[in-house]
Amino acid sequence: MKKIVYLIAAVSLMVSCQQQTVETEQDRFVSELMSRMTLEEKIGQLNLITPGGGIPTGSVVSTGVEEKVKAGKVGGIFGIYGPEKVRQAQTLAVEESRLGIPMLFGSDIIHGYKTTFPIPLGLSGSWDLELIEETARMAAKEATADGIFWNFSPMVDIARDPRWGRVAEGAGEDAYLGSQVAKAMVRGYQGDDLGSSTTMMATVKHMALYGASEAGRDYNTVDMSRQRMFNDYLPPYKAAVDAGVGCVMSSFNDVDGIPATGNKWLLTDLLRSQWGFDGFVVSDYTSVNEMIAHGLGDLQAVSALSLKAGLDMDMVGEGFLTTLEKSLEEGKISEEDINTACRRVLEAKYKLGLFEDPYRYNDITRPVKDILTEENRALARKAAAHSFVLLKNEKEVLPLEKTGTIALVGPLANSKNNMLGTWAPTGNPQLSIAVLEGIKNAAGKGVRILHAKGANISDDPEFAKKINVFGPRIEIDERSPETLLKEALAISARADVIVAVVGEASEMSGESSSRTNLLLPESQKRLVRELAKTGKPLVLVTMSGRPLALVEENELATAMLQTWHPGIEAGNAIADVLFGAYNPSGKLTMTFPRNVGQVPIYYSHRATGRPQEGDEFTKFKSNYLDVSNTPLFPFGYGLSYTDFEYKNLSLSVDVLTAAEVLDVSVELTNTGDYDGEEVVQLYVRDLVASVTRPVKELKGFKKVWLKKGETKTIRFKLTADELAFYNFNLERVAESGEFQVFVGADSNAALQQVFTFVE
Ligand code: NOJ
Repeated sequence: MKKIVYLIAAVSLMVSCQQQTVETEQDRFVSELMSRMTLEEKIGQLNLITPGGGIPTGSVVSTGVEEKVKAGKVGGIFGIYGPEKVRQAQTLAVEESRLGIPMLFGSDIIHGYKTTFPIPLGLSGSWDLELIEETARMAAKEATADGIFWNFSPMVDIARDPRWGRVAEGAGEDAYLGSQVAKAMVRGYQGDDLGSSTTMMATVKHMALYGASEAGRDYNTVDMSRQRMFNDYLPPYKAAVDAGVGCVMSSFNDVDGIPATGNKWLLTDLLRSQWGFDGFVVSDYTSVNEMIAHGLGDLQAVSALSLKAGLDMDMVGEGFLTTLEKSLEEGKISEEDINTACRRVLEAKYKLGLFEDPYRYNDITRPVKDILTEENRALARKAAAHSFVLLKNEKEVLPLEKTGTIALVGPLANSKNNMLGTWAPTGNPQLSIAVLEGIKNAAGKGVRILHAKGANISDDPEFAKKINVFGPRIEIDERSPETLLKEALAISARADVIVAVVGEASEMSGESSSRTNLLLPESQKRLVRELAKTGKPLVLVTMSGRPLALVEENELATAMLQTWHPGIEAGNAIADVLFGAYNPSGKLTMTFPRNVGQVPIYYSHRATGRPQEGDEFTKFKSNYLDVSNTPLFPFGYGLSYTDFEYKNLSLSVDVLTAAEVLDVSVELTNTGDYDGEEVVQLYVRDLVASVTRPVKELKGFKKVWLKKGETKTIRFKLTADELAFYNFNLERVAESGEFQVFVGADSNAALQQVFTFVE
């Protein structure tokens, strides 16, 4: 029986090479297989489990795994890895279940597998789509070498509230940039051929709007207008679908009052009917069951609701496994509903080539060849250096000279445990390069490095306990805070420059890690204040999984380099930038607020009826009494060791018609003393429209390299498509009228021109 399955698959794959018959052959194969499946086996395909003992990513684990696999009650597994282990588990399904249907093996490979890249928020700050794609490609190569071929990534949730810990996992606040990054990641993971043994199926998540949880509290409710949804939050999911993503994960939150996992409008009408998605939808971890707490009924009711809404696979909760048969008997769902979901899961397995060879990802010779190689680590180092954002550089204190004495202080200066960042469960922190080590590697003989911890990440043991669930991230020193500080001040007194590595522990952001306070913990604020009093040049290397409110630090420091959580090559990459081997080029993809009260704060806010002009408080304008409207650092912001000058913004025509292309060009000159890269950004404002429009929207960017003294003309193309938006009736339209084009180094881009668009 099993042999026949594989024989048919082999023939199907041969035929599938002839383009037009792909669907037909896949359909024929799946139909034939389904004709031999019992109802129980079909429901089994909809069940995704995670055995204990692997990588923990949630609070519930599955039980009776082996028996369930043998009984054909499991469609996929996540949380185990290694070619032998995966093969062992796959053998249970292939050899011991009645029909021998192979299982999917998944995992959360969010920013690299074992070679950990910077957290996604940092990586997006490179604005380098090729680089981002390359990191995803390499993650796929490593993961597939270890038996995993289904990834729960990319996370593309637009996030404008840095209180939410999961901002670390996405590409920031902007729909345009977020969409480009989403496509790059899907391409990177899936390549051109999902059936290749070095590519993996991607999952775009979390559909939808998870990044807009009220008050930045994780798993909280979401409520927003359809206009905001379509214009600002949905585009990255759609971009991933357009790029051919194989799987979509539904989110925990509700959308218009119905939890996403049971939301038919979202998972069927929008995703499938409007966007044409043809892969399968998996729930988030127990998100079916959580609809009980949402108040949508008991497990049977919410499982039936989810299936009917368009959910195909149930992650961990087993609501499908345990209730769908009953719901069918009671007429609450139809056999067709089950068949549809089962077919989609089997189609994914077919596309991955599992019916041809269920062990295609279990080559035991691959891990040593493909994982944690020098080449991979070199890419991690490059990706990290390219993700750093230079926030301040007074008196050109950076790059550091390779002479004299550096006092390297701060709780993150020698902390391997915090380099990988959140959501790196497959990485090993001990393999990471701490900043101290990286600086020593790069400094050479002419530099004396003195090191002291200076402060704990936090002095609060209760807080530390919450952060240390996956291992020691906040280690409260046995020495008193006063002793730590004294030591740091003592070495600083002997130094020419102080480099302080401060910020968040890696688990202070990520899932279930929301904060209402965006400041550095008090222990570290005190350290920075005392270091500043020495009067020595003070370079702050800040690490965090979110934008922090760094007003005080910005006043006290001579220079600030935002390094997120940089990944396995952290220390080397930081040294590369501090000593100038790489001139920083990262730009913020999330606005840095002045204080938490400004949140949510994002550059593309809509125009109000009473806009505040300038920074002065004006009565009866939209503003605050106690803080300016402006952020500390705007979206798109980031300095370089060199200077760039923008000149001569010009448009090819004054009047653009719907069929035409507008050429926008600007002259960019590197006027400083270093070669360097600049992210040239183009923004558009629709000056008169049928609905309120954002004051600026990113519609293009280019990362360009200029030698010192060099001038380049940078060109963009604008069409009606970039001017279009979803109007009150949710039609995508470009409306006639005047538009402003801005080009510059960040979202405050000042060079501007106006043109008229005619429909
Ligand atoms: C819950 C998270 O929300 C999701 O992003 C992740 O993929 C799953 N757990 C599986 O680990």
